[in-house]
Amino acid sequence: MNLLLAGDLDAAERAQWADELRRAMPGHRLLLARGEVADAAIAVAIVANPPPGSLAGLPGLRLIQSLWAGVDRLLADPTLPAGVAIARMVDPAMSAAMAETALWATLALHRGFFGYARQQQAALWRPQAQQRADEVPVLVLGHGQMGGTVARRLARQGYPVTAWRRGSPAASARSAPDGVRLLAGGAALADALASARIVINLLPLTPDTRGLIDARLLTRLPQGAGLVNLARGAHLVDADLLAALASGQIGHAVLDVFHTEPLPADHPYWCHPRVTVLPHAAAMTDARSAAAVVARNIEALAAGAPLRDLVAREAGY
Ligand code: GLV
Repeated sequence: MNLLLAGDLDAAERAQWADELRRAMPGHRLLLARGEVADAAIAVAIVANPPPGSLAGLPGLRLIQSLWAGVDRLLADPTLPAGVAIARMVDPAMSAAMAETALWATLALHRGFFGYARQQQAALWRPQAQQRADEVPVLVLGHGQMGGTVARRLARQGYPVTAWRRGSPAASARSAPDGVRLLAGGAALADALASARIVINLLPLTPDTRGLIDARLLTRLPQGAGLVNLARGAHLVDADLLAALASGQIGHAVLDVFHTEPLPADHPYWCHPRVTVLPHAAAMTDARSAAAVVARNIEALAAGAPLRDLVAREAGY
């Protein structure tokens, strides 16, 4: 089959992906640009946030395989061919990287390490009271591949973890696999927020979750809670977070994702003493492991077998 690699990749990334994908799928032809074969002969597009319009006019397309876990930008392209299967990236190596970032942020918030970094700037020697992990409830928003892996990792570390997802409460398994309490639905969220010391967002970005982390949600948290956004910038209402930081409602925020990326140089987050900014680096797709994930789906397509990690376009993820 002809496979087209399309996306927002620099030359080095493109070369690495080309190497890894060709190694993983020697029986298929990987194209780095349109025009090498007739458009109609391209069966699969392997995409990393391609510019809108990149996949328009490919009548033979059978699968769009994303190299990104989140497909919100892809789905926002009005020219995306209708009726073609879309698969998102689900790579255990990526979920493990996300769990490392979430664990670092949780430990630093729980033990006050961000505060000690601020104290160092002022040459302040001031030890704070020390709490045990089991005294610091963590709420993970989202219980998909990423959220589930993060929740289990934190539970193993001794934190009381609740994982929340949208949907009906009836559909939620109220059991506690791997020590994680599962909740679903809006009413359950209000309760879970009231007792969470740290909230970690790993929801998919959909019309229902855009702007979910607003003043209303933030005021439900106990005073001084920590916020960690590892999902998408548009989940968060920036003005509401800045107000919550100013009032002390939020003690510290760790933000990996932003409405505009790269974060503009004059954005107040950059210099805010109680915001830690990461450059959308919490969990990056690693071509070395992800190429095998892509290959597995393409071999399934070639064999007429079921595809994995398909996106439900109506749901938005
Ligand atoms: C990263 O944000 C991704 O969606 O893969």
